[in-house]
Amino acid sequence: MKKILKKVALGILVLISIYGIGRFIDVSYGSYQFVPRQPYLVLQTQNAVTIKWQSKKEEVGRVAYGLTQESMTNVRLENTTSKKHSLSITNLKECTKYFYRVSASSLVIDNEGRSFKTLCEKKEKQRLWVIGDSGQAGENQQEVYHQMLEYINHDFNKLDMWILLGDNAYSSGTQKQYNKKLFKPFIELVKRYVPWAAPGNHDMRRWAFYDVWDFPTNAESGGLPSHNEEFYSVEDGNLHLVMLDSETVSRSNDGEMAEWLKKDLSANTKPWVVIAFHTPPYTDGGHKSDNIFDSRGRLIEMRENFVPIFDEYGVDLVVSGHSHGYERSKLILNHIGKSDTFTAQNILQDSQSEYTKSTIEKENSGTIYQVCGSSSKLDRASYKHPALPVSMAEMGSLIIEITPTTLTSKFLTIDGKIADKFTITKEK
Ligand SMILES: [Fe+2]
Repeated sequence: MKKILKKVALGILVLISIYGIGRFIDVSYGSYQFVPRQPYLVLQTQNAVTIKWQSKKEEVGRVAYGLTQESMTNVRLENTTSKKHSLSITNLKECTKYFYRVSASSLVIDNEGRSFKTLCEKKEKQRLWVIGDSGQAGENQQEVYHQMLEYINHDFNKLDMWILLGDNAYSSGTQKQYNKKLFKPFIELVKRYVPWAAPGNHDMRRWAFYDVWDFPTNAESGGLPSHNEEFYSVEDGNLHLVMLDSETVSRSNDGEMAEWLKKDLSANTKPWVVIAFHTPPYTDGGHKSDNIFDSRGRLIEMRENFVPIFDEYGVDLVVSGHSHGYERSKLILNHIGKSDTFTAQNILQDSQSEYTKSTIEKENSGTIYQVCGSSSKLDRASYKHPALPVSMAEMGSLIIEITPTTLTSKFLTIDGKIADKFTITKEK
């Protein structure tokens, strides 16, 4: 009997090892594998943008651009031939829409409707589309996307920014998966918006992620220089957006990311602060933020080490994914323990949908936490975290609308319903 058990255990061990080695080879190869790729936008600033694409053969990249579709008379050429192209267009006007066209001889480029807008110093209103765990191509992903397009009446002038909360290309974020699960299905957005993408755990077999994207490290897009692509700020209109990496960099409270974040938030002068990263501090969906073993403790570390920073600087909204559902807190403060330590004292304002904050007194003014990891996948789970009274197993995405004095966030479901909505109003 003992011998049989030993043999079975050995067999299982061998199978696991073969699977692990196979997977490692697949992901390593997939991360470095070269794939042709349609042009996409990165590093948007108030006066520049970078266009990247990958052609099948070595050639000199060429981009034409202008203020109208008929007048793309400005031309930029690369200095050398390559397959991996990256052309920065600089000296642009702030807050201005440009049209662009990319030429390649070894890649058929879909140039229809290509445009971008530089970041704005001021804006009367702005709209963000936020998707989490969107990297499963198929009907659900497309329907969630379609509902956003319906919401804006298919008018891209009504959308300012696109944020991805991680797990952007299942299952391993390889180059091919990025093409199939992000660049192809979202091509109309890819042509027009910089995907401000946070890394998720599935992107973090991770070599492809920072090859695909270029993020600002010297405060090119606003905020303070982070000198690190893994965390940075983007400022547009009334928004100070912070993108964090909850997956691979140190999540300690005196690590590089935390130290930079404190300085960046302390220097901020924009009225609204939204912070985005993959692994949520509070969740009772597919992942459990009480469980120290869940996601190797990242949920707990983000809560224990970063929530005190969000509290201190009065961050308005924190958006995350990872759990494939929708969960949302009220305006809360000072909760870093397990869910059973959450009490009424942690709730600063008990309204279901209307909150007010001061434009001046920021410290300990409370934060709303939203989990939206259901933009292509769904977890049936308990959804009973006491800090997250608005929770549901529904697929969808977030529409965030910002004016100088209000921030409204809506959970737009896959059926086109607004299943949750709240507004924060800022008063002096
Ligand atoms: Fe995840």
